[in-house]
Amino acid sequence: MTQLATTYLGLELQSPLVISSNPYTIEIDQVARMAEFGAGAVILPSLFEEQLQLEDSGWDRLKLLDGRELPEGLIKIPDMQGLNKGASGYLANLYQMKKTVDIPVIASLNGTSLGGWIRYARILESAGADAIELNIYNLPIKPWVTGKELENRYLHLVEGIKNEVNIPIAVKLNPYFSSLPHTCRELFSGGANGLVLFNRFYQPDFDIDNEMAVPKIAYSDPEELLLRLRWVSLLYGQVEGDMAITGGIHSGRDLIKAIMAGAQVGMIASALLKHGVEHIRTMLDEVQTWMASKEIGDVNDLRGRMSHNRIKAPFHLVRANYMQVLDSHPKAYDPDAGIFEN
Ligand SMILES: Cc1cc2nc3c(=O)[nH]c(=O)nc-3n(C[C@H](O)[C@H](O)[C@H](O)COP(=O)(O)O)c2cc1C
Repeated sequence: MTQLATTYLGLELQSPLVISSNPYTIEIDQVARMAEFGAGAVILPSLFEEQLQLEDSGWDRLKLLDGRELPEGLIKIPDMQGLNKGASGYLANLYQMKKTVDIPVIASLNGTSLGGWIRYARILESAGADAIELNIYNLPIKPWVTGKELENRYLHLVEGIKNEVNIPIAVKLNPYFSSLPHTCRELFSGGANGLVLFNRFYQPDFDIDNEMAVPKIAYSDPEELLLRLRWVSLLYGQVEGDMAITGGIHSGRDLIKAIMAGAQVGMIASALLKHGVEHIRTMLDEVQTWMASKEIGDVNDLRGRMSHNRIKAPFHLVRANYMQVLDSHPKAYDPDAGIFEN
């Protein structure tokens, strides 16, 4: 029998398949089913910095006012009750969830600046969170803010939250850093126990008829996994701490790739939303069947087998890949069809 148990952020997990933040993970009965089907842990939907600050300043009372009495900017801020039940609902729900399920439950905070809202990390710990995932969703739009300043902000935020709690924290990051390995190393030295790679930026679409930007959320595509595989493979062995992959994992084979690149766990949201909770078992069965076919007994023996210093043809991970990919493009031009032959 193949063994799937592992650890993440020092927590014991029944499998390396973790359910990342999504609207299902706030539902206690759904999370109980996820655990039954073999999920290693769940991450709750995020509580947002803006939401926590507004709630602190009496947002609940403001909402009771007729919408027309509020400035437009405030009306546009969603209260997020549907996604995360609001700050107090979130805490009560977390507390109940911990009493019902026996897999680790990781709370999620989403913000960018050091402020009073980070004390919620401590409150989440008291409500029973096994760890905190800090999602730093920051789009730098001021031309005078340097990369270094931004990275220092990330670091101070991690240190600030670390000071609030005794439970482990993971940082969910985007890939847009000038030296990602350096940033990752800094975050680990600042106290992060894990890094979750990578955030997807939801790009707003342009409505040309009404000349406005419109929010657009689309499920991920397995192609998105490639960026994550490459970076985790390159970072493995160079940073101290756990790495998790989020983005583009849809099948058991995708999960195997993530672990072989060097991830401690692989996370799913889109695949779960598309195929339902039963998909967890389907994916884990696929992992176990593949392991059995390769006579690998323990999933932990897969970790890092395709990291940059163990993978065959490692030059494909770095610059040589770029040159080879361009060189492999067909060169025969068909003038009748007006295309390059493939
Ligand atoms: C409907 C939906 C809601 C999400 N909500 C959150 C959230 O509250 N906080 C967060 O950090 N990520 C959130 N995510 C991002 C996912 O946790 C995940 O990182 C991302 O979708 C990439 O993984 P995937 O390819 O498995 O979907 C959400 C994703 C979806 C599709």
